[in-house]
Amino acid sequence: MFARHCVQRRDTLWRQAAIAAGRYTRFNNGLTHQYRALSATTTNPPKTIFSGIQPTGVPHLGNYLGALQQWVKLQNESSPDTTLIYSLVDLHAITIRQDPALLRQWKKESLAMLLAIGLDPKRSIVFHQSDVPAHTELMWILSCQASTGYLGRMTQWKDKTANEKDGGEKLKLGLFSYPVLQAADVLVHGATHVPVGHDQAQHLEFARQIANGFNENYGKDVLLAPETLISPAKRIMSLTDPSTKMSKSHPNPKSRILLTDSDDAIRSKIKSAVTDSFDGITYQPDRRPGVSNLLDIFFHSGEAVETDDQVALAKHLEGLNLKAVKEEVAMAVIEVVRPIRERYENIVQDQKMLDRVAEEGKEKARRSAEMVLGRVRKAVGLF
Ligand code: AMP
Ligand code: TRP
Repeated sequence: MFARHCVQRRDTLWRQAAIAAGRYTRFNNGLTHQYRALSATTTNPPKTIFSGIQPTGVPHLGNYLGALQQWVKLQNESSPDTTLIYSLVDLHAITIRQDPALLRQWKKESLAMLLAIGLDPKRSIVFHQSDVPAHTELMWILSCQASTGYLGRMTQWKDKTANEKDGGEKLKLGLFSYPVLQAADVLVHGATHVPVGHDQAQHLEFARQIANGFNENYGKDVLLAPETLISPAKRIMSLTDPSTKMSKSHPNPKSRILLTDSDDAIRSKIKSAVTDSFDGITYQPDRRPGVSNLLDIFFHSGEAVETDDQVALAKHLEGLNLKAVKEEVAMAVIEVVRPIRERYENIVQDQKMLDRVAEEGKEKARRSAEMVLGRVRKAVGLF
């Protein structure tokens, strides 16, 4: 079945045409280049990569293309002296009320998923945020620095308050101070680089500001302001409403592709993706958000698609109708998701191994956080 699928894939029309025209170029991963450029121009101490994802359900294709794929690339391409730390941020997850049993289950499944995408717990520290109390302690200390004016201007908070009619009764303090915890996450490990999707850029700018402000008040070099690495797949949009980003919480399950979706589910979701009735295939995110989102997904779905950019990709696909393009996109996505899903199905059964990984991650992350927290406590006079 798999072999037949590969043959079909290789034989598709545009691919044959592209091979004939010699138009295959290496897939250019912007983020890795960005990171390499930094490596080449600096003689600074070794790098520390940190990132996090909320364990609030099975990650979707937006999470994968916008973040998780980069986590693995960085792991596999970093020099041996780089530390990589990836967290399941369960304390962020409870800023919205969660069913306790479900959260417990999601934590386990999310850990299994991080291994299934290719994180190697021997190389990367993988841990549950709430296992490392240093995050919340630093958060409190930073809360005493954080400007409420700045926090009130954060997009995510403003989006929430926009619909609030009862004077903030339902809006919780944890949601307001969410970016302070995120700042503590990265700062407590002395992160130098933080790979995320575009929606997190503002939170990380806040983390940089708070680190610099803290250093100004308490002496330089206590905290390190990290670089944000925005993934080349900045923003993958919903399949049913391409004006909003693909998200775990959208009420329509057809709006997202999950990393556990079957081949058929992927085909069916992409087949029914909202597009438009303009002629031909063009990449115009403002005018044709649905088609452009499919091109983004296709472009970022791995080494299978090797064109310079989405405009070039649209040109390759020019002769095909939308139905055929959707089939191409579905095949590319299936090639990304299938091996992850298959690995996940095995890993998630192995409870003992998952417990061991979580335990080791906890110990390593606790040790990693000790130094900065000690420096901060001393700087503010707590000892
Ligand atoms: P979350 O699921 O909100 O914890 O997000 C985890 C990571 O996935 C973050 O780095 C986000 O920026 C990234 N991400 C989430 N949704 C998308 C999306 N639709 N497109 C690109 N990146 C995304
Ligand atoms: N706020 C991020 C999100 O919702 C998750 C997150 C928490 C994170 N702490 C982090 C991401 C630290 C990067 C670094 O996606």
